[in-house]
Amino acid sequence: MRFPRLIPLICLVTCLAASAWSADLTGNWAVRQDQHDGTERRTYFDLKQDGDRITGHIRATQFYYAIKESTGEADGFTLTGSMIDVDKKERKVTYRGKLIGDELHIAAAGRGGAPGTDMVAHRAPAGEGAYPARVDLPALHKVPDNGLAKTPPMGWNSWNKFHGRVDDAAVRGMADAIASNGMKDAGYLYVNIDDTWEGYRDAAGNIQSNKKFPDMKALADYVHGKGLKLGIYSSPRPDTCAGYEGTYGHETQDAKTYAAWGIDYLKYDWCAARNLYAAEEMQAVYQKMGDALLAAGRASKRPIVFSLCQYGNDDVWKWGPDVGGNLWRTTGDIRDAWDSMTKIGFAQNDLAQWAKPGHWNDPDMLEIGNGMMSDTEYRTHMSLWSMLAAPLLAGNDLRDMTPGIKEILMNREVIAIDQDKAGKQGKRMSLAGDQEIWMRDLDGGAKAVALFNRGGDAAKMSVKWKDLGVKGKARDLWAHANVKVEGEEFAATVPSHGVVLLRVSK
Ligand code: GLA
Repeated sequence: MRFPRLIPLICLVTCLAASAWSADLTGNWAVRQDQHDGTERRTYFDLKQDGDRITGHIRATQFYYAIKESTGEADGFTLTGSMIDVDKKERKVTYRGKLIGDELHIAAAGRGGAPGTDMVAHRAPAGEGAYPARVDLPALHKVPDNGLAKTPPMGWNSWNKFHGRVDDAAVRGMADAIASNGMKDAGYLYVNIDDTWEGYRDAAGNIQSNKKFPDMKALADYVHGKGLKLGIYSSPRPDTCAGYEGTYGHETQDAKTYAAWGIDYLKYDWCAARNLYAAEEMQAVYQKMGDALLAAGRASKRPIVFSLCQYGNDDVWKWGPDVGGNLWRTTGDIRDAWDSMTKIGFAQNDLAQWAKPGHWNDPDMLEIGNGMMSDTEYRTHMSLWSMLAAPLLAGNDLRDMTPGIKEILMNREVIAIDQDKAGKQGKRMSLAGDQEIWMRDLDGGAKAVALFNRGGDAAKMSVKWKDLGVKGKARDLWAHANVKVEGEEFAATVPSHGVVLLRVSK
């Protein structure tokens, strides 16, 4: 008796759900989320439904996926998009959604399939948000040297600490701090705005800053007034990594805009270019901007440092200088964590030969002072980056630093290693378990020697004077004390995750 009464109920539930699914999802759907800076984050689902199969594309921030799998379920649908990333690996994303009235409620499945934040998409005109066609790339040539960055650039960059929260006030605050806390005198010069400053283009195609940066030219004047320089960020594709307006098709125009604002430095981040160009085509893409920056900088008599950011793909160190690059990222993004910092820093050995005045390997910005490593570990970070002749771009809040962090960032004896004018990157001399000794040739025949202990316990480490090829004076650059050069070797107890850094000269 109970059974027949259940049947209409089951039918009611499944039939209603099935009718939701059988609605045609074909069309272009846009999610528009207001951001605090006056721009919108837009995500597009360009769908074609054929029965319960959906094909099409998903465009989300810097990513553009082709839909490869779809399932229609009683209570909605699932789409899986796929793309080949710059490292040639497949990157996938899965969204689960449901049509409710004329709204598409959709959420990316997070790790382990857990639903992300629900977004609401509405129908958008066909073609809106469509990915632009690929434009042909110029033939390769050598971009003349801009004469900048004879030593690795020093300064600050907003990304590591602020991400999307950077604004005009923060940048002015950093410039004030650098100019007054001793950093400027120690060599920190560039104040660099990373991603999320961008607004939209005006009717003539000129890029504008968003609400967080009401007047870029005024900001540049302010920073210049402090005796410092202003840097900015863009991407060679329509979208930057955070999904803001990129430079695609506007290289010359944007370079001129930057020059008119008084910009001194551009970080040019591959990001969405991954969707149209292969890694092997990067050189031509970067060359286009290298040419544009050189021309704009010459015209305005304010040359612009060109910082390449494509995560070390396609052997960038071999062609970085040819596209006018002053520095090029050699890795993915650093995190404020011992594992991340050491994994990146100690992996730079094989790239030493490519660093030279004007052209540097860039193992990413500093995390010193961001709070997730100990001061001992931050001293290792500063020492290692200096041994690597790496750019020293502080990534913390300079308005609020402990005396310990100030001392690390402003250790002039260590900075002098980084900024050594011979511009030769250091190399690993020996490796024994967790202990690594690195050496760097300095101007005039001196050497920097770093004894790194990556292990969990303090360790006694030593280096023979004769293996350094120079003997005379030695100085401990963290203790700020001379070391007696006697006997066969230098020996020290190096704390766990710590370093002893020496400068040895005749
Ligand atoms: C990439 C870069 C970072 C930063 C962000 C900004 O991840 O590698 O350094 O510029 O983009 O979106």
